[in-house]
Amino acid sequence: MKHLLDRFNRVPLISITPTPLEPMPRLSARLGGAQILIKRDDLTGLAFGGNKIRKLEFELGHQDLEAYDTLVTSGASQSNHARATAAAAARLGKRCELVLERRVHDSSRAYRLSGNILIDHLYGATVHHVDDGDVENSIDALVASLTNKGRRPLVIPPGASTAHGALGYVRCALEMAEQARAMAVSIDHVVLSIGSGGSQAGLIAGFELLGLPVTVWGICHGPPGDKRQLVFDILQELAATLELPTKTRACEIITESGQIGAGYGHLTPAAEEAMTLTASMDGVLLDPVYTAKSMAGLIQLVRNGLIAPHETVVFLHSGGTPAIFAYADTLLPLHR
Ligand SMILES: Cc1ncc(COP(=O)(O)O)c(C=O)c1O
Repeated sequence: MKHLLDRFNRVPLISITPTPLEPMPRLSARLGGAQILIKRDDLTGLAFGGNKIRKLEFELGHQDLEAYDTLVTSGASQSNHARATAAAAARLGKRCELVLERRVHDSSRAYRLSGNILIDHLYGATVHHVDDGDVENSIDALVASLTNKGRRPLVIPPGASTAHGALGYVRCALEMAEQARAMAVSIDHVVLSIGSGGSQAGLIAGFELLGLPVTVWGICHGPPGDKRQLVFDILQELAATLELPTKTRACEIITESGQIGAGYGHLTPAAEEAMTLTASMDGVLLDPVYTAKSMAGLIQLVRNGLIAPHETVVFLHSGGTPAIFAYADTLLPLHR
């Protein structure tokens, strides 16, 4: 499969490859079964890491970067993807314009000024705040205005969840398979957070190409709705890009909506329990928006036996940890 990926251009942004695959012995013991491993994609390095760095490597590698002087993208106010894009732009000597949607109504100073937003500014990005639902129009207007001024903007789709972006997670599946082989374990399940769908699509394609029967659970963090078609569409585009048809059908993709709670960006009791457990058991920090909910999903799957005591599950830590600081007003009262 390495040869397959070598056909695609990649802008190297990850500091440490492969990212570590480590056991979580105390959490495994606490839950009374299932060997839990963690894939540390929170340690992809650039700008506090996360899954977007992997996707940007291939998405930017696929572009003629000489033709552009500005990267433009969008996300929620505390978007990890926006922060990763701002960092990539800085690394590549480009300017960056971010359209950030007010998806969460949190007026605290920390939410407005700290976490990812603070980092966006440190990277020199220009930030445009827009109302929920106004992103597409705002991007069009921004691109027109930048072009009028003689700038050459490249728009990166939300989450870099294009077929090329998803190649980053084909590569991650390959890494995990090699690491598991070296540890003499076989992976039965992978659990990850799903938003724009590219990470899950890439992992499904990767394990399929490797011929490994790994069940990939996508845990949704909001808004509610069936995400299988979203993932399936990316999977099909990815298969076309790889020139290898996928056998996976849309109905076989697993996306779980049970952890969403009150919606995007709202901490749930189960997510709060997951954050506390992983920190106190194995010293791992999760973010309140994405990975806390996906770990809560994993814990539930182990507790209700859908992941059996004799099986091995990998938790994909997809990053997002700078958001901890943006949620100080929510998190601190729970931990003091
Ligand atoms: C930390 C983190 N984890 C997971 C996701 C979801 O990944 P994807 O957009 O590839 O589905 C996101 C973004 O939405 C994220 O920021």
